[in-house]
Amino acid sequence: KNCDVGFIGLGVMGANLTLNLADNGYRVACFDLDQSKVDAILAKEAAERGDDSTPRIEGCSSYTELLSKLKAPHLIILSVPAGDPVDHVCNHLIDAGIKADDIVIDTGNSLWTDSVQREEQYKSKFIFFTTAVSGGEVGARFGPSLMPSGNPYAWTRIEPVLTAIAAKVDPVTGKPIESRTPGQPVTEGEPCATYIGTMGAGHYVKMVHNGIEYADMQLICEAYQIMRTSLRMSAAEIAKVFRRWNEGKLNSYLMEISAEVLEQTDPDTGMPLVDVILDKAGQKGTGLWTAVSALQVGSPAQTITSAVFARSISGLKEERVKASEILHGPEVQTLDDDAKMKAVHQLEQALYCSKICAYAQGFQLMATAAKEHEWDLEFGEIAKIWRAGCIIRAVFLQSIAQAYENNEDLENLLLDPFFADQITQMQSDWRESIAQATLAGIPCPAMMSALSYYDSYRTAVLPANLLQGQRDYFGAHTYQRIDKPAGKKFHLDWSHPDRPQVAVKK
Ligand code: 6PG
Repeated sequence: KNCDVGFIGLGVMGANLTLNLADNGYRVACFDLDQSKVDAILAKEAAERGDDSTPRIEGCSSYTELLSKLKAPHLIILSVPAGDPVDHVCNHLIDAGIKADDIVIDTGNSLWTDSVQREEQYKSKFIFFTTAVSGGEVGARFGPSLMPSGNPYAWTRIEPVLTAIAAKVDPVTGKPIESRTPGQPVTEGEPCATYIGTMGAGHYVKMVHNGIEYADMQLICEAYQIMRTSLRMSAAEIAKVFRRWNEGKLNSYLMEISAEVLEQTDPDTGMPLVDVILDKAGQKGTGLWTAVSALQVGSPAQTITSAVFARSISGLKEERVKASEILHGPEVQTLDDDAKMKAVHQLEQALYCSKICAYAQGFQLMATAAKEHEWDLEFGEIAKIWRAGCIIRAVFLQSIAQAYENNEDLENLLLDPFFADQITQMQSDWRESIAQATLAGIPCPAMMSALSYYDSYRTAVLPANLLQGQRDYFGAHTYQRIDKPAGKKFHLDWSHPDRPQVAVKK
């Protein structure tokens, strides 16, 4: 019984998290239903260690063996696919004799409501805890962003482990402190792991992270398509633009990898790889969950939702090919070099403003959900743990953290003086960019929805007055009046408009 942590599920994320734990001095007992994965991680750890010191990872061939190697009370981390596999493992652990004060941490992309249900379901058997993980393979290995939630007592026991393996940030610059050397973890800086709240909160926040990730990715893709189609630039030229943008306010991991994708040549054809990748987007569901949740709680998140729909319409490849021969749009005009340069400059501002709106929507959604579920979310802290390790890490998250530090009750990121000023300065370029894309017939659903979000949010009187009139006309659904106390409802007898408007009781 000399292992500190048990690890179950040695897929890409699990194997890398296990090596990360070992790098940070934890002895890990690991298990996977596929014995070859256990063998592979033992071999990898031995190769990385490279000397005859004691192995830090021990392989197990059953749940019982795993428990037998762990110090009590047990701490077990799961990295198995979301859904039934989580319950499958939990039930095996119960059969293997897990105890009431043992902790099981789910790190998958679980649906937050499933986590709430699991906490209740397993409470007499063990403590079910979750930590959502972002950062992909490299993040898991050298420092992911972690969004833990559940029993606060369990958190006090888990905190040292999770903060050790998390990504680290320079608190002053907000930039990641990175090491990619096995066995040499980063030990200084602020860890990208903070207790998010009671069960469900962490996975909800990760779900919104992924919704923002969808929007961020789609916005970059739209900028690419505008440059590719309207400005007739090559993949390599666009990569150069992305590299330049990555040095400024748009600096982010997604911008960096987009440039790398565009620079990649297909070894088979010699063409840019992006030109031979089929334009059909996959999705595993977290963006969709975010969109569904936004609709359910009534929080406007149209850029996130548009990004999900953009993936849906990309899936209709055969139909789109057919439609492209029947449905006509405008001719794309050829621009001279000056006009092209101007368009690229405007696009940078358009991307930045749209990005602000996507994040504003994500944070607004979290705030609305937090009220509904009584989670005490700290938005500044959430922005801080997204500065490194995760897929949406970006320099810009430092400004978001700052915005919530300046005003923890900030209703919307757009109302923060810094962001409000940025959009004021850049909005004419944003509008022009979208207008040009529209005139050229190039779809940019996420950028357009971001601009509509901005314009709707800043409009004091929306046409919902007419809408309420329509609803009252056909269905007596009532309306409120601007000259009467809020909440008081009225109905007009539309076939006898002279009759007094009847105040309807609440
Ligand atoms: C992360 C990613 C990760 C995963 C997405 C991919 O934060 O590390 O978001 O969770 O890559 O789930 O999602 P799609 O397959 O839906 O694009």
